[in-house]
Amino acid sequence: MARYYSPETYGVLAESISQILFTAEEIEARVLEMGQEISRDYNGTKPLLIGVLKGVFPFMADLIRAITVPIEVDFMAVASYSSSTREQGFVRLQKDLDEPIDGRHVLFVEDVIDTGLTLNYLLRNLNARGPASLKVCTLFEKPQRRLINIPVRYKGFDLPDKFVVGYGLDYRELYRNLPFVGMLKPEVFRPGT
Ligand code: IMP
Ligand code: MG
Repeated sequence: MARYYSPETYGVLAESISQILFTAEEIEARVLEMGQEISRDYNGTKPLLIGVLKGVFPFMADLIRAITVPIEVDFMAVASYSSSTREQGFVRLQKDLDEPIDGRHVLFVEDVIDTGLTLNYLLRNLNARGPASLKVCTLFEKPQRRLINIPVRYKGFDLPDKFVVGYGLDYRELYRNLPFVGMLKPEVFRPGT
């Protein structure tokens, strides 16, 4: 039985997409590989996976089911500021972790690393809490847009310097429910308006 509906089924959402970059099946296959690698590396340690809401939740849900060793999960939420404020290194925590992370092996899970500024802020914050280890896992990365160099231990795919939606990624809170990832038509995507 098919696991996903075809893109056309998504009606007005699909009509806003100019090009599909990663199909649901391609994402699924890559996430299974990532889970296998993480399971091998963390065997015997019971890592804590930390995700930043909301964009990460479909990836996190699929990734944890591809991990075959015991794990725990926790989430943070940050306020999205304007990009100029973000560049100055300000990120406001809207929801902090439920539990302390000192002595824990932490795997920080992201949907997409764009400039890296948000991630840099959060990693410094988490590092100050004394984890036994802190590594980064991201589904997507835009290498051309990086302003800060952060070591990424697990990466799903590189993205071009383009705004994409689907599989958790939104444009004005829409498109998160698409099972594939694609680019928006120029008449739909109007940054700064
Ligand atoms: P950074 O601080 O520039 O790395 O911002 C990363 C955050 O921006 C991600 O967690 C996303 O919420 C958002 N973001 C970056 N690129 C995209 C995109 O192409 N589509 C949707 N959201 C994006
Ligand atoms: Mg977002």
